[in-house]
Amino acid sequence: MSFEEVHEKVNERLTRKVDSVCNEFAVDAAKLEELTEYFIESMNAGLQPLPQGQDASTYRNMPMIPSFVTGKPNGSERGLFLAADLGGTNFRVCSVNLHGDHTFTLRQLKSPIPQEFLEDEHVSSHELFSYLARRTSVFLRKHHPEMLLADDGSMPKELKLGFTFSYPVQQKGLGSGTLIRWTKGFKIKDTVGKDVVQLYQRELDAQQLEFVRAVALTNDTVGTFLAHCYRSGDANSADSGEISDPVIGCIFGTGTNGCYMEKIENIKKLPLEFRSQLLREGKTHMIINTEWGSFDNELKHLPSTKYDVAIDQKYSSNPGFHLFEKRVSGMFLGEILRNVLIDLHADGLIFCQYKTYEQLPHRLRSPFELSSEVLSHIEIDDSTGLRETELSLLQALRLPTTPEERAEIQRIVRAISRRSAYLAAVPIAGILIKTDALHQHYHGEVEIGCDGSVVEYYPGFRSMLRHALSLSPLGPDGERKVHIRIAKDGSGVGAALCALVA
Ligand code: GLC
Repeated sequence: MSFEEVHEKVNERLTRKVDSVCNEFAVDAAKLEELTEYFIESMNAGLQPLPQGQDASTYRNMPMIPSFVTGKPNGSERGLFLAADLGGTNFRVCSVNLHGDHTFTLRQLKSPIPQEFLEDEHVSSHELFSYLARRTSVFLRKHHPEMLLADDGSMPKELKLGFTFSYPVQQKGLGSGTLIRWTKGFKIKDTVGKDVVQLYQRELDAQQLEFVRAVALTNDTVGTFLAHCYRSGDANSADSGEISDPVIGCIFGTGTNGCYMEKIENIKKLPLEFRSQLLREGKTHMIINTEWGSFDNELKHLPSTKYDVAIDQKYSSNPGFHLFEKRVSGMFLGEILRNVLIDLHADGLIFCQYKTYEQLPHRLRSPFELSSEVLSHIEIDDSTGLRETELSLLQALRLPTTPEERAEIQRIVRAISRRSAYLAAVPIAGILIKTDALHQHYHGEVEIGCDGSVVEYYPGFRSMLRHALSLSPLGPDGERKVHIRIAKDGSGVGAALCALVA
């Protein structure tokens, strides 16, 4: 066989293999229906008291965590608050001035989370929280020196801080909660089971910031939800003229998660006495942080490929948990692609200039090195010979590719992102159906307040999600009533709002 013939044979085999990989990533209407039904069942199960002999750390269903937030802001809230937000990529400290007219001003300091906190198992809680407190101190010195020293030299005035901590915590009240487990790559063992507000406050005190009082603990989804409520009804804002209160606050970024308001009488996991007390006080609903990243950890219904299994078992820091997140969120999209590429290479179908696995570029062999940003460039590349893709892969992985390889890689990227967006429709459809939200208001229009890099920047993600909503049990009529709004800075404003009521 001539070189050309061998080459053509390999290409044919590659195309066939990629066809079958893409097929494995496909999610159809029947699957969406099955998953939506199971999502609703899982929500109901998660609202019940924990089964005998289980605690939050061993429970594998969706956590459905009561947030202790029982009201929605209406935009008239006022005051200056601090907010701190530990996410999967950055730590942000901000001051939020709520003006009481749906608007606010925000100053912030964003610091990337040092790599060793994510990679090194021996980093301690003390090191992490001391870093957070030091960054808080830097923020105050830079943006609010006036707060550090009162004019007469007396102690500075107390400043309330809302802490957005976007990991599963067993919330004890509005102002405290213990970490159930890390997600999104953190591994610091001695934080698990501890009260994260206390850990942070202790380090703030150590930085002589005793006047900063961490009074509220919240999740980024809850923050997004509350921020959206605060802004809704602002007639002057360019994009929010018609904003109404959201039904869901959600994140599609490094991780994915969502919250919604549940009737207190349904939250059976809250002690009866406490539920009755809330009802007597006239409270009817409480925000539930679903932690939908952990939807179907048992893999009863979620689609699963060998790549998903490998990522969970071999490469993730929380094997067996957050399996929905591992198919949907930004942290994993690149890793899925990387695993597929390694597999195609092992089958002798791509990157044939590298004879063995060990010869592949180091970055291609490094877990989580391929970011979803690279996928977003490949997704929409329409340049001749997929030149943009070539450059992206060279730059990100030092990986040279042929035009044929790139065409196949693009197909795989599109299959991975489509599955992510289709699966993302499941919890949205599930919550809308469970709360009967489409039948609550005139015309049944509903808002979904979203934040996160994937929903904001990944090309086509929102329209694929919408398409999946129309294929889901909501149908095209339901889908048309759903308004997906990006609620930026949600966690800062939301944390400030929590601090206000704490
Ligand atoms: C992860 C966290 C969750 C957070 C989400 C989005 O799923 O467990 O608490 O809301 O990421 O940041």
